[in-house]
Amino acid sequence: MDAAGPHPGPEAAGRRRVSWRGLRNRMIGRRGFQSFMARSPLTRWFARGEGARLFDIVAGFVHSQVLLAHVELDLFVICRDAPQRPEALAPRLGLPADRLAALLQAGAALGLMERVGDAFQTGRVGAAVPGVPGLAAMIRHNRILYRDLADPVRLLGAEGGGELARFWPYVFGAGAAADPDTAAAYSELMAETQALVAEDALAMADLEGVRHLMDVGGGTGAFLSAAARAHPGLALTLFDLPAVLAGAGERLARAGLAGRVTLVSGSFRDDPLPGGADAISLVRVLFDHSDPTVTALLARVFAALPPGGRVIVAEPMSGGKRPEPAGDAYFAFYCLAMGTGRVRSAERIGAMLAEAGFERITAPRPRRPYVASVVMGRKPA
Ligand SMILES: C[S@@+](CC[C@H](N)C(=O)[O-])C[C@H]1O[C@@H](n2cnc3c(N)ncnc32)[C@H](O)[C@@H]1O
Repeated sequence: MDAAGPHPGPEAAGRRRVSWRGLRNRMIGRRGFQSFMARSPLTRWFARGEGARLFDIVAGFVHSQVLLAHVELDLFVICRDAPQRPEALAPRLGLPADRLAALLQAGAALGLMERVGDAFQTGRVGAAVPGVPGLAAMIRHNRILYRDLADPVRLLGAEGGGELARFWPYVFGAGAAADPDTAAAYSELMAETQALVAEDALAMADLEGVRHLMDVGGGTGAFLSAAARAHPGLALTLFDLPAVLAGAGERLARAGLAGRVTLVSGSFRDDPLPGGADAISLVRVLFDHSDPTVTALLARVFAALPPGGRVIVAEPMSGGKRPEPAGDAYFAFYCLAMGTGRVRSAERIGAMLAEAGFERITAPRPRRPYVASVVMGRKPA
């Protein structure tokens, strides 16, 4: 890069006024400073904490891959009921015993497994993996994300995203998602992971007094299925692209909801939304799209609602002025790899709702920010 470019060299930086954070950072960054801190009884605890945290970030990718190997080999289920010795398991898994032992030992170090003498049994954290809907599917799916992230700086400069962009064709318009097989592949992953999101969204969303809920971009109807169970009197409409709705009918029939949910196919980019619902939910929809698409969609949502109608947005969000790891690191980079969309803070989504005309905007404290946060608004009565 040109020396006169946007990043001044260390000399130029040295001439600038240095803030207190700058002074702190210069001190921490001095060679030998960490060792000095670790030797002093007064600062040892602090230095160890920061060192361990930094090492966890350095090693994070390896930790994810250790988890992936456990999922791929189904070790959390195989080792659930009783401790297993690597040499007894190895032939069944087609791996050399010492390599399998290394994996199980790594799993034990990360709290996924527990070491019982020379054997290994699933630990508390590992035991949760098969029980969390969609988690194993998401861990497998992350391979694509991690391939894109192998060169994060290149990804930052790649306007169209990475390999992940080809996995989610619908974000580039309805036409890209016309193929039912492609739609089935992404809908399956969405449906598997939606149960968890639906649980949190329903717990946080205020559906008191709502008669008719329309889920826009509702995929195969997992959120509406959960809403139907929680609110037996609620009328339900599912709006999504035609190729996606093809799979939704089947899934809803299996859930015994075939007659209860009205399916409306269309594209919220091109078509007005049907009227009749007094609440519209957008679950994991906005973060796939750019600001102009979201602004246009919210205008359509506003137009489709009656006076007093409410909008419910549920998705992972940025922490905004208080950055938080799930929204601002994981999901933000996921969007970068998709090549479109962005993680927005609850404040930003609230402001977009207000621009669309909504009022009484609320954002309950999220139960699990890594699953979903919720922002709601009302159309003026
Ligand atoms: C990330 S998925 C979320 C699905 C579901 N709400 C969930 O949480 O599992 C986004 C959904 O929006 C739908 N979608 C994307 N573009 C759309 C459009 N232009 N019109 C209607 N639906 C669209 C996709 O088909 C997909 O089902």
